[in-house]
Amino acid sequence: MKKFKTLLAVLLMLTLTGLGQVSITIEAGPARDTISRHIYGHFAEHLGRCIYDGFYVGEGNKTIPNRDGIRLDIIDALKKLQVPNLRWPGGCFADTYHWKDGIGLKKNRPTMINTWWGNTTEDNSFGTHEFLQMCEMLGAEPYLSGNVGSGTPQELADWVKYTNHPNGSSPMPVLRQQNGRATPWGVRFWGIGNEAWGCGGNMTAEFYANIYRQYTTFMTSGGGQPLYRIASGANGGDYHWTEVLMRDIPKHLLDGVGVHHYSVIDWNAKGSATRFTDAQYFATMKQALRMEELVTKHSAIMDKYDPKNEVAMIVDEWGGWYDVEPGTNGAFLFQQNTMRDAMIAGTTLNTFNNHARRVKMANLAQTVNVLQAVILTEGNKLLLTPTYHVMEMYKVHQDAALLPSVITTPDFMYDNDKLPAVSVSASRDKSGTIHISLVNIDPGKSQELRITLNGQKISAVSAGRVLAAASIQAHNTFADPGRVKPMPFNGASIQEGALRLEMPPASVIVLTLK
Ligand code: AHR
Repeated sequence: MKKFKTLLAVLLMLTLTGLGQVSITIEAGPARDTISRHIYGHFAEHLGRCIYDGFYVGEGNKTIPNRDGIRLDIIDALKKLQVPNLRWPGGCFADTYHWKDGIGLKKNRPTMINTWWGNTTEDNSFGTHEFLQMCEMLGAEPYLSGNVGSGTPQELADWVKYTNHPNGSSPMPVLRQQNGRATPWGVRFWGIGNEAWGCGGNMTAEFYANIYRQYTTFMTSGGGQPLYRIASGANGGDYHWTEVLMRDIPKHLLDGVGVHHYSVIDWNAKGSATRFTDAQYFATMKQALRMEELVTKHSAIMDKYDPKNEVAMIVDEWGGWYDVEPGTNGAFLFQQNTMRDAMIAGTTLNTFNNHARRVKMANLAQTVNVLQAVILTEGNKLLLTPTYHVMEMYKVHQDAALLPSVITTPDFMYDNDKLPAVSVSASRDKSGTIHISLVNIDPGKSQELRITLNGQKISAVSAGRVLAAASIQAHNTFADPGRVKPMPFNGASIQEGALRLEMPPASVIVLTLK
């Protein structure tokens, strides 16, 4: 009876203080899987102000510092994220793009209409050379999305030869040399079309699998960089798509299978990026946390056809999608970015880290000025979004060994629905340092965490950082670019061998253990 009364008192106290109790166990023994740095990839499409008036401000621009038209403050900011790869030129745009329009003297390049994104005139001044130069400046690997929907196998095969074939007398490397690039770039990542089930051609999975086999047959590097070929993947929970691709495409032609998933509440009522209700916040997080289910179920199908884990899952589009900012072009997909987006980023990256065995690459949509961007620009001003800060805090996981974790967490409740409030992933880097990334998506409740390590004694918490704000709608503006930013976190202590800390509502914390 006495014990019961004590338990009751503790529960009452916790209810009054609003603290949830979270318990996490991390397996810190020898690790099996590595978290590929390519999980931290990005995506840049010829859409709205991502490339033009984003990454690329034009060669003649005298007001914004640039090299050959590529904006230098963006490069500097992205270098701090250690961007591992960048996907280009789309998206839906990729299946309308003819790469030969974007090479050679700029004055001779033809223009086209960007029919997917606002019927703007695309002058092709940013093409293959400009993109690959930008990747070199970033230290990122390029990921080229080939045109399957309106292109030909010859056109894609030629693009591979142009970028990858060693110098010689065949036409594509000769053309490359005439255009000023002597050595091949050695592009490894190639997407065979994009969203073939939709804007990439409205194909069936069966039809696309055959087309994929045809296109990849003619893609060769001519003894140069071996190719990593990625099939256009499923729309969210279309498991049939993955099943057919895994069943019908021979392994020697297939390195990765894509998946796209956006955290959108309702395609017909996406809601404001900044002025959203509690109900909309919950609905967005429900969509974001659905990534765990999607990755688990697509993995189960892949495991069936590929028990040796030779084909990777590539989540090459993910992120939050809302209404465009008032007064901006509806086709440009320019949206603000709040702490809600930080919650999406933190939980999604935890999912990818925890599924590192199968998920080898992912691309947040999109880097600059489009959807869940890490950078927004206005004229010569630039701001870093809450999503940028999460990406920067999480970069410690790149190429680190995954330490699997088990979590018991309270629910984040809304109406009669619930979601797990806290998510975690952990890794050990090459120097032996352990990093733990934590997200508390509950905007109304702090969480009290107890973390234990199996297989290693915790001797010290050497550093911690937290991203939190006064409200879940908090965001950075050009007038106030530093409102949301990571701060040092000194609230973790070691008690009886366990790590104890309190997580603020709607926060992301990354801890470093020695
Ligand atoms: O990222 C915006 C668009 O969303 C991409 O072009 C397309 O692939 C997806 O539907």
